Amino acid sequence: MSVTFQLNGKTVSAKAETDTPLLWVIRDELGLTGTKFGCGAALCGACTVQVNGQAVRSCQTTLQSVAGQKVTTIESLGHDNKHPLQVAWIKHDVPQCGYCQSGQLMSAHALLSINKNPTDAEIDAAMSGNVCRCGTYSRIKAAIKEAAQVMRSA
Ligand code: FES
Ligand code: FES
Repeated sequence: MSVTFQLNGKTVSAKAETDTPLLWVIRDELGLTGTKFGCGAALCGACTVQVNGQAVRSCQTTLQSVAGQKVTTIESLGHDNKHPLQVAWIKHDVPQCGYCQSGQLMSAHALLSINKNPTDAEIDAAMSGNVCRCGTYSRIKAAIKEAAQVMRSA
């Protein structure tokens, strides 16, 4: 039996066991490798994707739980680096090793979809589950604020 859901706007079906973490379905079965494995225990945020616009840890989200739902991954931002978040990320030199950045961007994107002018505290709260071992937190905050400003004036 397969499970059908929306992935970045396209209908997909996955044949993995229904209790398989969404992370592995996305990466191994559906071939989108932008989403990363970090801890496997909902502690680091590297695997963050969105389900119906909400940031979730795909390592702790089963395939069955997204049946019929809308899943969005880092690939949805596009490969041309034109999304305001991508532009701001590059301008502020946010990525260092880069490993955590897919998750950071998906959390930031989820925040800006519901809050177009987040305060420092709101950014801290929304991003608190995303760990960066390279310590890019201040750059992330600056980039989120800049992207928010660009998106408000668009
Ligand atoms: S890999 Fe999912 S939270 Fe760390
Ligand atoms: S950029 Fe290296 S872990 Fe965040």
